[in-house]
Amino acid sequence: MKITLSVIKADIGSIGGHIKPSARVLQTVRDFVETNGKKKGLIIDSFISSTGDDIAILTTHTRGTLNEDVHRMAWDAFQAGTQTAKEQGLYGAGQDLLKDAFSGNVKGLGPSTAEMEIEERPNESFLFFAADKTEPGAYNLPLFLSFVDPMHCAGLMLAPSLAKGFKFVIMDVNYTKGDRVIELNSPEELYDIAALLRDNSRFVVESIWSRTTGDIAASVSTTRLHNIAGKYVGKDDPVMLVRCQSNFPATGEILSPFSIGHYCAGTMRGSHNGPMMPCKQNTTISYFDGPVVVTCAAFCVHNGKLTEPADAFDHPYWDWVRNNVAQKATEIRRQGFSGPAMLPYDELEYGGIVEKMNKLDKRFNVRKVLEPVGVGK
Ligand code: F6R
Ligand code: MG
Ligand code: MG
Repeated sequence: MKITLSVIKADIGSIGGHIKPSARVLQTVRDFVETNGKKKGLIIDSFISSTGDDIAILTTHTRGTLNEDVHRMAWDAFQAGTQTAKEQGLYGAGQDLLKDAFSGNVKGLGPSTAEMEIEERPNESFLFFAADKTEPGAYNLPLFLSFVDPMHCAGLMLAPSLAKGFKFVIMDVNYTKGDRVIELNSPEELYDIAALLRDNSRFVVESIWSRTTGDIAASVSTTRLHNIAGKYVGKDDPVMLVRCQSNFPATGEILSPFSIGHYCAGTMRGSHNGPMMPCKQNTTISYFDGPVVVTCAAFCVHNGKLTEPADAFDHPYWDWVRNNVAQKATEIRRQGFSGPAMLPYDELEYGGIVEKMNKLDKRFNVRKVLEPVGVGK
């Protein structure tokens, strides 16, 4: 059976700053999807969760990617949730709904989306990741390591079904006139892939495909809110879907790179570097508006029906990782605004630095070269 997995997520308001959505807002979104998605036969199944201050609507259906009706339903669910958020006086109510009216699909309207249309395997297993207080390029390193590096993905050495490698579709997210993408094959073009993926703020993995079967393996949201609104309205907080097992890396091979707690852009005011902490489902935001949080719900899906999620980072092993990551977060914070602790000039949010630099620029003087006094006279 051909099914579509669609995840659409937005920050529509949260409690006590940017910590987490309220139970009532979540319930409003759940009820809306149940009534207008499931009961009307638009979708087959759904799972609604929060990561930090974001709400993600995961649905299964048979309508293909970028389907107008499915996207409109999610958009309307977020509008309904925003209404509740306003009634409760939540902070940043409707924050990610940047346009007044829905048109076509949610791309360019604020919410992020990752989707894939798949021929469902009899034992279809996939992972749904959601990260808060960071940008889509934060997934570049984990995806690179899971899909090209035998140090994390032993299957690249051991499993004939993975031996041909994977195709990466990478987007230049700074280009705003359309989707500027490149396709590169691993392992032949490994170094080219690495050369692009080192720049998380500009080049982002959009999707990954098996070179053995041609099937899609991963899909990542590539929205840059900054490019839509023209100013800072929150970090992009990316979602991603990754199929696992058999012709794809095993679940543990996909999770493995998250043990690094790599530094990525985000946390406080979207303007700092901080380590990514793999957390349990529905984890909130705390220290220095961070740390960057990533959650992972693992599912099987059969005829479009989802199992209950298995919380992939809810395991004693990840407690140890979280402790290490907390230490990394504290370490970089100790140097405050200095050097790599903050993002480069172009990526700083809020515009305050640009204003300051413009003001200070006028006060700089170039010293006149002085004639040496008395020399040679
Ligand atoms: C980062 C984020 C927060 C806010 C910060 C200030 O993505 O959402 O770090 O930038 O809490 O928020 P405002 O400007 O809403 O007071
Ligand atoms: Mg968020
Ligand atoms: Mg937010």
